[in-house]
Amino acid sequence: MGEFLSDIKAIRRRAREHIDQGPITEGYKAEREKVIAVLNEVLATELVCVLRYKRHYFMSKGLYAESVAAEFLEHAAEEQMHADQIAQRIVQLGGEPDLSPNGLASRSHSEYVEGQSMVDMIKEDLVAERIAIDSYRELIDYFGDQDPTTRRLMEQILAKEEEHAEDLVSLLQARSG
Ligand SMILES: [Fe+2]
Ligand SMILES: [Fe+2]
Repeated sequence: MGEFLSDIKAIRRRAREHIDQGPITEGYKAEREKVIAVLNEVLATELVCVLRYKRHYFMSKGLYAESVAAEFLEHAAEEQMHADQIAQRIVQLGGEPDLSPNGLASRSHSEYVEGQSMVDMIKEDLVAERIAIDSYRELIDYFGDQDPTTRRLMEQILAKEEEHAEDLVSLLQARSG
């Protein structure tokens, strides 16, 4: 046994207590209830993004509509994957994912804006990504070393949102250039 561990006997003893809590051990440092609440906000954010991208996908028309619509659809699928990963993590932490449509928009960080033209839609999606990027970055700081698993999950999602924002800004440049 490595000397870096505090007390392996104590760890072994503690592991046998509260086994119903699964992966949540006594060493879990974050405030579980708070983490679950904040992850439910992330879940709402992702779901609102799914709905907004889907709306934009179905409403795409005009020049370049096909390639832009394909991008919207791909983003919608990736936001859905993020929502599923977050819901899974909430359950792992002993919480319940809030999938209620009631209050979904107000739990979400990003907004649901339909937009009229294709350019409007792309801009609204870009704004939503930028909101997610900033709020997720703050959450990552908050999780820090208190909950490394949630932090890593949020880091992966953040990287994907940055990719989305880059895709959208390229589309805007392609259309104006
Ligand atoms: Fe996402
Ligand atoms: Fe995104």
